[in-house]
This record gives sequence, C-alpha cells and structure tokens, in this order.
Amino acid sequence: MSVVLEMTGVVRVHGQGAGEVVALAGVSLTVREGELVAVMGPSGSGKSTLLNVAGGLDTATSGSVQVCGREIAWLGAAERAEVRRQDVGYVFQDLNLVPALTAAENVALPLELDGVRAGVARERAIAALVLVGLESARDRFPEDLSGGQQQRVAIARALVGRRQLVLADEPTGALDSVTGDAVMRLLRDRIDAGAAGLLVTHDARHAAWADRTIHLRDGRILRSDGAGEPADLMEADA
Ligand SMILES: Nc1ncnc2c1ncn2[C@@H]1O[C@H](COP(=O)(O)OP(=O)(O)O)[C@@H](O)[C@H]1O
Ligand SMILES: [Mg+2]
Repeated sequence: MSVVLEMTGVVRVHGQGAGEVVALAGVSLTVREGELVAVMGPSGSGKSTLLNVAGGLDTATSGSVQVCGREIAWLGAAERAEVRRQDVGYVFQDLNLVPALTAAENVALPLELDGVRAGVARERAIAALVLVGLESARDRFPEDLSGGQQQRVAIARALVGRRQLVLADEPTGALDSVTGDAVMRLLRDRIDAGAAGLLVTHDARHAAWADRTIHLRDGRILRSDGAGEPADLMEADA
C-alpha cells in the first residue's frame, strides 16, 4: 500500500528563549493507504500539533513531512494551502464551519475549491450528509444546529471527495456514544476505501477502530501498539 504520510524527525518549537515550548521533539511516523492510526496522550503532549504539522496547517521547525510524496515542511503558505485542499480532510476540535453557509454548502466547499462543478459538489455533499444522518438539516445554517449536528457536518466535510489524508482531532467529543460510534464507522469506511488517517482520541473504544495506536508524551512517541492491545494500557492515557 502506498505511503500517504511520512514524517521524519519532526520537531516543532513554539516561542523563543525562556518562553520556548517544544511541542514535538522528534517524531517519525509512516501512515499508509488503508491505515488509521490513533493518537493518544495527556493534554499538552503534542497531539494537536502533530495533526496540524501533518496537514500543513503548521510548519515543522525541523524535520521532513511528506504528504502523498510531496515535501510540505518547507512549502510557502499558498502551496501548503493547495496541498491541504487537494489531499487533506480535517475535523478540528473547534469545527470551523462557515457561519454564512448552509450545512450542504459547508460540505460542498472543499469540492468546489477543488474545481468540482457546483451541482455535482452539492450532490456529493448531500450524499455525505445522508451518511452522517443529517440530510434533513442540509439547508440549515450552523447556528441553527446543535453542537453534535455541527460536528457531523464537519465530519461530512472532511470525508467528502477523494482526499487521501484524513486528520481528526477528537471528532467524537461532543457526540453521544451511539452517534460517536456511527462517526467512527464512517471514518473507518473512508479509510478502507483508500485513505490514511490520524485520529486523536481519549476514548480507548474509539482507538480500537484504528490499526495501531501511538502514545505521545512530551512531544515524543512513547510507544506504538498494534490492534488488540489490552484496553487497560490505552485507558492509562484517558
Ligand atoms: N501556538 C502555540 N504557541 C505556544 N505554545 C503552543 C502553541 N500550540 C501549542 N503549544 C504548546 O505545545 C504543547 C503541545 O500542545 P498541543 O499540541 O496542543 O497538545 P495536545 O493537543 O496534546 O493537548 C503544549 O505545551 C502547548 O502549550
Ligand atoms: Mg489538542
């Protein structure tokens, strides 16, 4: 299976001098097509920074980040934005839905930015909303949706289209367990259909959907578990 994300010796330092914070202290990670990797670790261990650097929202201080064979660590902002648009789907902790766009328009937006015709983009967006159980909300604006519904719109937006790398930072946080499980099913199906994913979660039940789990501590990968590890090991991070 082809390598979608290849991070080698990635360091990310925030701030300078006495205020310096090493958010990533030399992370190397390979994620292939068809693989979902769970990322666990205490608050402040670098999970969000890892996803931001992997998706080109943030830049590494040193080290290499390749997405679909393209080195993004040293690209300029405009080129990184292009890689993000073409290859990366995100679900953030703060959802970043566009308030002036309806649910369907929010989901269609990355497709349209990719050059998909408006009518086709809308059809695909509605199909994605059906998958997350939100077809009836397609013409409503984010402010008229509950937190859980907004989260499902954000998930539909990340999973629509052909982007190869899906990055999800606690995507099930505001969802009840039934909806959370449905979202994990969607994410898993999207990965199985030909993408690679990183999933930040505190929930060992959700990490169990992944092919392996990496445990971060102080910006380093402490250990990496295959599927089927005892749940109590993963629970230690929750
Ligand atoms: N923009 C920033 N400026 C300064 N420090 C930051 C910034 N972003 C993250 N950090 C610091 O980097 C470390 C890792 O943060 P983060 O990646 O958000 O961890 P996590 O997602 O695991 O909670 C923390 O110590 C955090 O305070
Ligand atoms: Mg975080």
